[in-house]
Amino acid sequence: MTPPHVVAICGSHRDESHTRKALTHALEAADSAGAETDLLDLREWDLPVFDADDDDAGDAAAFTRRVREADAILLGTPVYHGSYSSVLKNALDYCGFDEFENKTVGLLAVAGGGFPITALDHLRSVCRALNAWVLPHQAAVPNAAGAFDGSAEDWSFTDDGAAARVATLGERAVEYANIEPDPACFESAENVGADD
Ligand SMILES: Cc1cc2nc3c(=O)[nH]c(=O)nc-3n(C[C@H](O)[C@H](O)[C@H](O)COP(=O)(O)O)c2cc1C
Repeated sequence: MTPPHVVAICGSHRDESHTRKALTHALEAADSAGAETDLLDLREWDLPVFDADDDDAGDAAAFTRRVREADAILLGTPVYHGSYSSVLKNALDYCGFDEFENKTVGLLAVAGGGFPITALDHLRSVCRALNAWVLPHQAAVPNAAGAFDGSAEDWSFTDDGAAARVATLGERAVEYANIEPDPACFESAENVGADD
């Protein structure tokens, strides 16, 4: 059987991004659970600010192809102003039903403060609009400055509970990667996405 393919998208451009560290940990857990993994670090992709008149600008075609290869997608974001980052939103706007419909999605948010939940709620709404199937388990890492020891290359979680929550996200993404979800609802019939 082909191993599940889990793709993670990191919504922070920061060199020392805690979101990237947490996503790496989730992908390591997915790998241990038998998946092939792919981290799409948005720093490395040329994705200009989205313009619907030019929706294959820059690296968009290659980027969306890598997302489409996923059986399960992990979305990782820093909390910016109580929501998810513009970096991630921009990447998501290049995507659509082709990348997300009926896909299993896991959500992760990292906050400087103590309340990362709104960003996760907002991402859950975006995934609803794209007819994705979002894991009930979501990983929140609060108080990010104290959540990791070490450097960008060599780090560890300071809190075993946070590490376990993030690892569980990767494991669940593998466990549910190939389910056949039916997220159809009134809203999905009403949402035309990017169709004219
Ligand atoms: C523009 C901006 C807005 C932010 N807004 C919030 C916020 O509303 N709540 C919060 O807890 N942290 C906020 N932060 C802090 C980030 O969530 C925190 O620094 C996080 O670690 C960034 O993720 P990263 O390390 O992956 O870049 C904000 C940071 C920036 C740069």
